Amino acid sequence: MHRENCNKAQAAVDKTGKSFAPDYLAAKKTIDDRALNHHVWETLCQALPQTTGNEPVNILEIGAGIGTMLERIVDWGLLTNASTYVATDSDPGQLGAARKYLSQWAGRRGHALSWPEEHRGRLSTSRADISVALDLARAEELADKSGSPGPFHLVIAHAVLDLVDFPAVLPRLLSRLTKNGLGYFTCNFDGETVFLPECEGDAEIIRRYHASMEARLAGASHTGRRLLTFLQRPGLELLAAGSSDWVIHPRSHRYVTDEAFFLHAIIETVERELKKNRRLPGLAAWARLRHRQVETGELSFLARHLDLLVRRHPCLS
Ligand SMILES: C[S@@+](CC[C@H](N)C(=O)[O-])C[C@H]1O[C@@H](n2cnc3c(N)ncnc32)[C@H](O)[C@@H]1O
Repeated sequence: MHRENCNKAQAAVDKTGKSFAPDYLAAKKTIDDRALNHHVWETLCQALPQTTGNEPVNILEIGAGIGTMLERIVDWGLLTNASTYVATDSDPGQLGAARKYLSQWAGRRGHALSWPEEHRGRLSTSRADISVALDLARAEELADKSGSPGPFHLVIAHAVLDLVDFPAVLPRLLSRLTKNGLGYFTCNFDGETVFLPECEGDAEIIRRYHASMEARLAGASHTGRRLLTFLQRPGLELLAAGSSDWVIHPRSHRYVTDEAFFLHAIIETVERELKKNRRLPGLAAWARLRHRQVETGELSFLARHLDLLVRRHPCLS
């Protein structure tokens, strides 16, 4: 997929504000690949075999979207031997999108992926055999012990904890981990959005954009730093933490892969979000300018994120 010259901007989220566009999530994949913190990832690679021993690895992902994290951890070699991967999302539209996306990816890589049931897959690579489940579930429901699968060696939440009341959900979710089980929580937004070159109106637009996150969920605009302290509570061991900022810039007035599509989607999302509230003079002109700067290869963009890896102490109830 490559949409560098996309004129019609599509927002990251639909008009209801609940459904993330699969094309946006696909475009975000390579940007996240580049952003993910290497130290935190390497620590995960070392810690996971210590946690599982010789057992098959059981993984739960919340807010999995179209399945890009499963793609990534297979491509990056985290999984060897037998594993189960339960990819969950609260949006029913993501399950079908994930099946399609993962099937296309497996085909490109030459992995065997069959679907004995609509949302139950078997993935075989040269290194691993993975039983894949795509399940409709809100993180809040999964945290509730009764009737949920588990225990898990690893719980993953990527670019989702700013949408969830994590102080309420994570303690219950982490108690679903095995002894020494791990939580890998990545791309947690942390309060900085920057469009460059700076232009008139930026400060108020960004301020209101962050305020809209707060209006949705108190604390959401500083999820990264809140997690950094939250995950140091008794019963948990914070194994690694580090930055995973999105940094996008043009090269010779061009963007690589789907970066232009992604930038248009971010601008569209900011504009749509701000239109919901008190009128902001200059917003439409700001958005037009920023879209034009994408077309001419002049816009750079930064968003601050944190990655964290935590281990459950055996004593956590
Ligand atoms: C920004 S998207 C990230 C998707 C995926 N992790 C990725 O990075 O490509 C957030 C995802 O979380 C899902 N989501 C939002 N609130 C949720 C909740 N309370 N429980 C589970 N999933 C949720 C959305 O449907 C969406 O697919």
